[in-house]
Amino acid sequence: MTTSLVNPPVQQDLVGASVKPQIDSIVEELISCLPIADHLSASARRGIIGRYTAVLEGNFIYWMTAAYLSAKSAEVRPILLDNLREEIGDSHPAMLRKFAIAAHAFPTDLDALAVHCGLTNVRLFLGRLSGVQNILTMAFFEGFIQQFMAYLSDLAKAQGSSEFVYTDVHGVCDVAHSQELFRALSVEMAVDPIDPSTDLFEGVDLLRTLIQTIIHGQGETLAA
Ligand SMILES: [Fe+2]
Repeated sequence: MTTSLVNPPVQQDLVGASVKPQIDSIVEELISCLPIADHLSASARRGIIGRYTAVLEGNFIYWMTAAYLSAKSAEVRPILLDNLREEIGDSHPAMLRKFAIAAHAFPTDLDALAVHCGLTNVRLFLGRLSGVQNILTMAFFEGFIQQFMAYLSDLAKAQGSSEFVYTDVHGVCDVAHSQELFRALSVEMAVDPIDPSTDLFEGVDLLRTLIQTIIHGQGETLAA
């Protein structure tokens, strides 16, 4: 998706009117294309949880840090720091690892390799440290994660797990995180607007592709 922006002074007005609705619809589309959990084999369920964990455990804090480093607005940085403080203080990576192990879905080398290209693309993009684009990408990610939690929890339940701290926590806290990130986006757009010819959704599109690989693998999701 290519989204050109109008003049910078009014970019921040677009967040509520246009950008957030577009992000909501991308999330909705991803959720509507989830394979029906009851139709998945145990191996396909394990693969989704394994690939999700392979991406999220070691990268969420890294990527939120990239958003923090790229933000120019003094008002935005505390919003991102609060998010990081919660991730590290409550050790969300440990929570996720525990969730994956209990679901017999700890990532394998094949899980890591399945997401390798998509993951590298997102890492390199966020490493360019474009404040507005990076904050939007993470706002999208938080919004997706929150909507995805019920499905992830169902997969783990079908795997025989009773460990749901990770999905319970993220189904709730990411709603507030996502709203805060859209507020941060609006502020950053006012302080350091991006060039109107820049594709605001470049990082979102790369992350969406990675999420599609997490969900659908490389064509093997429905395999027995
Ligand atoms: Fe988290």
